[in-house]
Amino acid sequence: MGKETVDLVLDFLRRGSYVSGQEISRALGISRNGVNKHIKALRALGYDIDSATNRGYCLIKEPDEISEVEIEKQLKTAYIGRPTRVLCSVDSTNEEIKRCAFRGKKQGLVVVSDEQTAGRGRFGRAWESPRGNGIYESILLRPDIPPTQISCITLVAGLAVCRAVNELCACNALIKWPNDVIIGRKKLCGILTEMTIEDNFISFVVVGLGINVNNLSFSDEICERATSLRLESGAVFSRNEVIAKIANCFERAYDEFIISGFGPLKAEYKSYCATIGRSVSAICQGQRVKGTAVDVAPDGGLVVEADDGGRKCISTGEVTVQGIY
Ligand code: BTN
Repeated sequence: MGKETVDLVLDFLRRGSYVSGQEISRALGISRNGVNKHIKALRALGYDIDSATNRGYCLIKEPDEISEVEIEKQLKTAYIGRPTRVLCSVDSTNEEIKRCAFRGKKQGLVVVSDEQTAGRGRFGRAWESPRGNGIYESILLRPDIPPTQISCITLVAGLAVCRAVNELCACNALIKWPNDVIIGRKKLCGILTEMTIEDNFISFVVVGLGINVNNLSFSDEICERATSLRLESGAVFSRNEVIAKIANCFERAYDEFIISGFGPLKAEYKSYCATIGRSVSAICQGQRVKGTAVDVAPDGGLVVEADDGGRKCISTGEVTVQGIY
């Protein structure tokens, strides 16, 4: 069965409302039996297609399968997501990208998996990665920047996810410094950036993104803190569209960063950063600092005006922010 013809049948169905088998058969120059076969094949792929006497076929719902072809159709990038590799299952997309990087794969490669069996979060935590509703993806980068600038890439990724989410729906996605994308008080997306250095130079960077898309529930462990695009907006999203949108937004922000540094992106990052202006508590050089977050430093650190006076720059570690999970 020609894949192209199936796609053409699908295009007909995507026009909305009912379309008769006769119309499809005439337009595509295939038999009625051929149309039936293609409809059957689409149903087997998970397309929900109604058929009604005298009216024909109507596409009720498309499956939300992650597909390289569907993602690449929506890419507007020069190199991010080119190629995009989609896996059914993998230990961790960050680990898969590292394996690819050691085999010499180029900057821009994206690996997406429908599930992860050993998904990782920051601080050695596990990242729940069940099949079906979330996005687990990693991007391979080979930036020519000093290792001290690496934290900025995480900020750039957070900013790109905010841009993408805010383009996709009316949810107000914000950032909990450095790298959690939140809606309201709950976490929508986590970012795990890892780098490999050789002779003081960055060999490659992996940006891993875990995004809750169509999830309606979470495990007991995280349900108080986690949310999804669907829970926040009520709409169901195509994961392919979300993946492509993030690649498009990421490339634009990353190019800006590589060309001009974090400076020109800082004002926008701060406008998304829910941590700024709030009371925070963090560990800085082995000591607990309590105070108010006031700024983001050029290297991506969080500038805190300490309650006991003076400014401190937090560069890593976990920050507790009053009012956010
Ligand atoms: C965090 O908030 O702790 C970061 C979570 C990052 C999860 C993503 S899912 C895709 C990629 N692969 C992993 O194993 N982790 C990241």
